[in-house]
Amino acid sequence: METIIQEVADCLATSVNAVVLTGAGISTESGIPDFRSPGGLWSRVDPGEFSIDRFLQNPGRFWRLHLQMKASGDFDLASAEPNAAHFALAKLEQMGIVKCIITQNVDNLHQKAGSVEVVEFHGNFLRAICMKCKMVEPISNVESRLDNGDEDVPRCTRCGGLLKPDAVFFGEPIGSKSLMMSQVQSQKCDVLLVIGTSLQVFPAAQIPLTVKLKYPPAKVIEINMEPSAMHKQVTDILMLGSAGEILTRVFNCVQERILQQGAMQSGRN
Ligand code: APR
Repeated sequence: METIIQEVADCLATSVNAVVLTGAGISTESGIPDFRSPGGLWSRVDPGEFSIDRFLQNPGRFWRLHLQMKASGDFDLASAEPNAAHFALAKLEQMGIVKCIITQNVDNLHQKAGSVEVVEFHGNFLRAICMKCKMVEPISNVESRLDNGDEDVPRCTRCGGLLKPDAVFFGEPIGSKSLMMSQVQSQKCDVLLVIGTSLQVFPAAQIPLTVKLKYPPAKVIEINMEPSAMHKQVTDILMLGSAGEILTRVFNCVQERILQQGAMQSGRN
């Protein structure tokens, strides 16, 4: 593993525009379950509950489920804290190596760890949005109104429109700004880190294909507990294991390499 860590650190240290694509696997070490691993969320909650059609059929039912999942700790995003993997990526951004994170996660943990250039490809579950006037408010406000029994179906305080979590439900399009930003980053990308995603959900899973098919193709490095559905088509370097452990080792290696370079540079001057 040490040799691969070195190889990946070299790739990153010499990259011009390294981009990261993350999925639920990067947040499991923060206590948030992923979706499709054994014991993942979809093994106990029907993913259809997160489809826009079912939400619109019975929004009250969805919000009750949301409160239950939060209370059971199964999907309590607000109290989750970033883990070593999130912090390693934030530090690689501060070093100017990671240029952008495209995340499928709706947990706000990259931003909480200090990452700045984050594309919320599937939105953010810590916000609620009005489906009529698009006003956004913290979802915690909505949860309090529901908990206090003020409302069964949360309504916008400005226009009375229906509120939903500001996340992309199944059957909804990806936000145009997120789509545009991820396409721009994919075109510029020379190294793509794919972390904690099974690459089964499109269009996010299209991103590794896009960076592979462009010229010159980017190098794709995958960090996962098990190989993604597309590793045979897109992955150049596959690292199986904990994202927290692997990214911490990669970060330490990159930092060491850059310090050595600096020392040699000052030695030459
Ligand atoms: N370290 C590294 N990889 C991990 C870890 C970990 N600690 N824990 C889990 N994984 C890996 C699993 O091996 C799996 O490949 O993370 C991946 C998680 O895959 P999914 O559960 O399918 O999650 P994701 O790919 O993010 O799902 C995509 O589907 O359900 C929708 O909208 C939801 O954004 C989500 C999308």
